[in-house]
Amino acid sequence: MAEVDVAFIQEPVHRPNPSLRQEADGIPLIDLSAPDFDALISDIGHACRQWGFFQIINHGVPPERLQKLEAAARKFFHLSLDEKRKVSRGGLDKVMGYYNTEHTKNVRDWKEVFDYTVKEPTLAYASLDEDDDTVAYWENQWPENPPELREFCQEYATEMVALAMRLLELVAMSLGLPPGRFEDFFKDHTSMVRLNCYPSCPSPDLALGVGPHKDPGVLTILAQDDVGGLEVKRKSDGQWVGVKPVPNAYIINLGDILQVWTNDVYESVEHRVVVNSVKERYSVPFFLNPSHYTMVAPLEEMTDEPNPAKYAPYNWGKFQLTRKQSNFMKLQVENIQI
Ligand code: SIN
Ligand code: FE2
Repeated sequence: MAEVDVAFIQEPVHRPNPSLRQEADGIPLIDLSAPDFDALISDIGHACRQWGFFQIINHGVPPERLQKLEAAARKFFHLSLDEKRKVSRGGLDKVMGYYNTEHTKNVRDWKEVFDYTVKEPTLAYASLDEDDDTVAYWENQWPENPPELREFCQEYATEMVALAMRLLELVAMSLGLPPGRFEDFFKDHTSMVRLNCYPSCPSPDLALGVGPHKDPGVLTILAQDDVGGLEVKRKSDGQWVGVKPVPNAYIINLGDILQVWTNDVYESVEHRVVVNSVKERYSVPFFLNPSHYTMVAPLEEMTDEPNPAKYAPYNWGKFQLTRKQSNFMKLQVENIQI
């Protein structure tokens, strides 16, 4: 019998099957300090084509940055719900902060989250009207406790932006493009970081930490602790396979924007998070997103007559606002406290 609220229960087709769980040995592990640069670029290209997911080691980010952040995140998530709700996300004028109400495809995720934006403030759109360019500012909400959280979050974000831009240069080169090809899209980037806490769950066979989804941005740099739970839908056979935690590695996954830019040469890949009945799990994704005014469309270099553009251009900032608006509407309609 289910021991979780019905809101968390996945449709049978999406429920994880612990007896079928397998780990993906094949997920490429890429050493960013490898001396043979041409081989590195070719490995990245291969990983992007075959998996859309890879892990990196020797990436240059000092391990203390993440250890400090994770320790502070643990302190924050262990505060009382009332305390955490002092920095609750809420409505379109408060899009950053704490929440435990995320839904993926209409089913509630078994997780608690603290979101913060990297550029302070981040420029976004205030209106969904295509002709209205009025700007809104996303601001962070920092908890009083633990006091060090703010500094550790900011320090970590700086590392992530540098690493993401370096990775994007490698991705550009793997497509035969100049390393700086994507740079102009990030002048006013809307990147953000999420601290995820997945509490232990009494019904890990019915609920998911995050339901199946693809990331909408450019790319994600994910740190996961040693508990494990991230699963990727393997492109070759559509099977869900676990991504085994590797100490000090980051998991990179491509988002929808890279799929559009490359006109499907690279694809964003579906993933989800399974939970367990014993251990709490932490993860920290960094989402690299372009400036709000970016028109996302296949790059000229990736299209030609035999390969016409597969996507119509769309405005990233308006798209983001639509998503946020529909999330808040859903919570209001269902009368869920945010
Ligand atoms: C996510 O994809 O939203 C989170 C991934 C993770 O926690 O491993
Ligand atoms: Fe994701």
